[in-house]
Amino acid sequence: MERSPREELGLVEIKVRDGGPYKVTGPVRLVDARGDEFTVPAGDSIALCRCGRSAAKPFCDASHRAAGFDACERAGDG
Ligand code: FES
Repeated sequence: MERSPREELGLVEIKVRDGGPYKVTGPVRLVDARGDEFTVPAGDSIALCRCGRSAAKPFCDASHRAAGFDACERAGDG
């Protein structure tokens, strides 16, 4: 499988989803508040909760939908 330019550079990508989680594409290592580590290989993704309603924090469990979470910030908006 061909690697994207982002993967070639080893960059982590974080996408802000309107009204939803942060989609984080690896390679990345996430360490939670207990010190548990989650390794995300290059090209794989996780969704991190930003609404505060997930029962599976720090991961999104789609509770934002039922909660009506509404956010659409743009980088650079002051
Ligand atoms: S962003 Fe999906 S549950 Fe919080």
